[in-house]
Amino acid sequence: MIQLIKGFKDILPGEVEIWQQIEKITVSLLEDFGFKEIRIPIMEHTELFARSIGEDTDIVEKEMYTFRDRSGDLVTLRPEATASICRAYIQHKLFAKEPVQKLFTIGPMFRCEKPQKGRYRQFYQINAEIFGVASPLVDVELIVLLTTLFSRLSVSDIKAHINSLGCPECRPGFKAALTDFLASRTENLCSNCARRKDRNPLRVLDCKVPGCREEMAESPSLMDYLCPECLQDFESVKTNLEALNIPFVVDKRLVRGLDYYNRTTFEIQTGSLGAQNAVAGGGRYDGLVKELGGPDMPATGFAIGFDRLAEIVRLNIPEYVKTPDIFLAVLGKQNQSLVFEWKCALGIKGVKAEMDFSGRSLKSQMKRADKMKAKHVLIVGDNEIKEGSAILRNMVTKEQVSIPINGIVENVVAKL
Ligand code: HAM
Repeated sequence: MIQLIKGFKDILPGEVEIWQQIEKITVSLLEDFGFKEIRIPIMEHTELFARSIGEDTDIVEKEMYTFRDRSGDLVTLRPEATASICRAYIQHKLFAKEPVQKLFTIGPMFRCEKPQKGRYRQFYQINAEIFGVASPLVDVELIVLLTTLFSRLSVSDIKAHINSLGCPECRPGFKAALTDFLASRTENLCSNCARRKDRNPLRVLDCKVPGCREEMAESPSLMDYLCPECLQDFESVKTNLEALNIPFVVDKRLVRGLDYYNRTTFEIQTGSLGAQNAVAGGGRYDGLVKELGGPDMPATGFAIGFDRLAEIVRLNIPEYVKTPDIFLAVLGKQNQSLVFEWKCALGIKGVKAEMDFSGRSLKSQMKRADKMKAKHVLIVGDNEIKEGSAILRNMVTKEQVSIPINGIVENVVAKL
């Protein structure tokens, strides 16, 4: 039997309903916060991701699904959505109509990581990006949005981790200090970090290898190197989060796995997921639009890991299945076409109706209706058709009423 690809997964009925519920609540909240949906392709020129995410990151170095298409172009299945949304913002000159754009997108991303619980090779993200606002208040707005969403989904075991990555003015000072710090420690670092430490020392802070983590415990903190503007910006984020009663921790290790960030970065972490504890991550990336050929435009955003969020929500609701409003139990194959017409008419009116096409006994059809958790059953056989009335049974109260077959669809709708 052909199995699915390692790290990919099916989302089956029973679980899909949780995803639909999350999506409905999230989209409604994003729209309340002024976001508009954008749909972007799942494949882009490789260069877009290499330039945005950074050549020295794990994603670009070893996790992208990159190949030459039939015309020989180097293309990549998107590992994230921010770069594509920036490309669309620039390509369609959205900034010319209105520089401030709040955009969201939901869809699959692809990273060839080592699969484990909460980490997949195809996973889904809910992305929200704000272009054209430099104020740190919009970083706070994004965190408020995330915490509101988690509270609406009854997800409580979460904490916002925040950090500042400074700006092109102050980060070089920190990088130099970090490079000095790392110079004497090369032999204790993993081979990846030993190789990258001079070109991109920030990546070492993000490394999950225990030896590197231990080595970095005493590393310099970017907080000590922030320029007055970055410091003021970060203070404003903290003060406004406090004013809104949003709990957070300042986490100096939070450099994120993508190179485009500056100033405030954040992650929402949870205790419910084990090792893969980040359920959402984001931050400011003020230089990226310009870097990709657009105007000098500040930007900030986040992505929620949909799979991880669904996993936490599922801990609260083990199974969420939509049940039929009515099951049509039809006796005698000769009556199936007529009852099938009713079933279709009920469906058109928005009633979830099911029927059995096998011609089995009433007892086994009732069993099936019970198993499907149908709220009502309509029983129709030769006798009912002759007498001009069918039996409607309420499966919860077990009450049965007789309803006229003439105008049956309206009669059923009136009784449900
Ligand atoms: P990221 O931290 O790489 O950021 O991913 C965001 C979230 O996607 C993570 O917190 C996690 O929940 C989920 N995620 C990432 N990789 C996997 C995986 N292999 N399996 C399951 N879930 C995963 C970004 O992608 C940035 N583009 C976020 C952003 C938007 N920054 C600014 N705007």
